[in-house]
Amino acid sequence: MPSLSQGMIAKALRSPRRALLYGLLGPVRYRRLMADVDAETRAEWLGKQVRETDDVRAKFHLLSFHSGAVQQTYWLGVPLQKSPLDCWIYQEIIAELHPDVIVETGTDLGGSALFFASICDLIGHGQVVSIDIRQPPSITHDRIEFIRGDSTSDDVLAKVSAATRQSARTMVVLDSDHSRSHVLRELDRYRGFVTVGSYLVVEDTNVNGHPVMPDHGPGPFEAVEEFLLEHPEFEVDRTREKFLLTYFPGGYLKRIA
Ligand SMILES: C[S@@+](CC[C@H](N)C(=O)[O-])C[C@H]1O[C@@H](n2cnc3c(N)ncnc32)[C@H](O)[C@@H]1O
Repeated sequence: MPSLSQGMIAKALRSPRRALLYGLLGPVRYRRLMADVDAETRAEWLGKQVRETDDVRAKFHLLSFHSGAVQQTYWLGVPLQKSPLDCWIYQEIIAELHPDVIVETGTDLGGSALFFASICDLIGHGQVVSIDIRQPPSITHDRIEFIRGDSTSDDVLAKVSAATRQSARTMVVLDSDHSRSHVLRELDRYRGFVTVGSYLVVEDTNVNGHPVMPDHGPGPFEAVEEFLLEHPEFEVDRTREKFLLTYFPGGYLKRIA
C-alpha cells in the first residue's frame, strides 16, 4: 500500500469515501485507522477552543467532540456517528412512545438505523425508514427499509408517505446535510409526518459554535430557531438534555399540538 499523509487519510474518511474505506478495510482495520487519523488536527482544535472557554459544560462538550470517539463509535460493530448519551435518550424516547415508524434522514454506514431497529427489537415493535443520497449500506434487518435519494425530493417524500401511511406514532430524526437551508427544507417537509406527542429530532445543532466548529456556518441550530418562530406546534424538550452533554442542544423537538 502506498504511504498516505495524515491529511490524505483524513480527506478519504469524509463521506462518501468513508463507506468505501469501510468496505475495503473491514471493521477491524477501519477501526484501527480511525483511532489514528486526524489526531493532530483534533488536538489543535481541542487546545485552542478549550482554552477559550471557561464554561465547564462547553469545555466538556469540546473535549468529547474532538476526542475522536464519535468517529470510532460502533453499534454491534457498525459505525454510528452519535454520542452514546444521545443514543440513551433515543432508547428512552422509543421505549416511552413505541413509535410505529422511525424515519431517519442520513444513513451513512447504517449504524444509527441498526441501533433504532435493535431498540425496536427489544420492545417488539416498530419499523425504521432510513434515507441517504448515497447507496445504502450492505447491512440488512427485517425492520429497516433503506431509501436512496435526496431527502427533500418528491420521490423520496412519496416513499416516506407510503411507509408511514398506517403509522399512528411516527418519530423523525434529521441527520443528513447539516446546512441551515437543507435542514429548513427537511423541517418543512418532514414536520407533517411527526404525530402529536412524538419527536422531530434535529441532530448536530452543536455545530457553528454551539459550541463546536465555530466556522461551520449556519446549520441545524439556526434552522431550528427559524422553524420554531413559525411552528408553535413544536417545542424544545429540554428534559431530553438531562445528561448535560448532548450533540443536539435545542434539537429535541416535541410535537405538542
Ligand atoms: C452524518 S451522516 C449520517 C450519520 C448516521 N445517521 C449515523 O448516526 O451514523 C450524513 C449522511 O447524510 C447523507 N446526505 C447528505 N446530503 C443528503 C441529502 N440531501 N439527502 C439524503 N442524504 C444526504 C450523506 O450521504 C451522509 O451519509
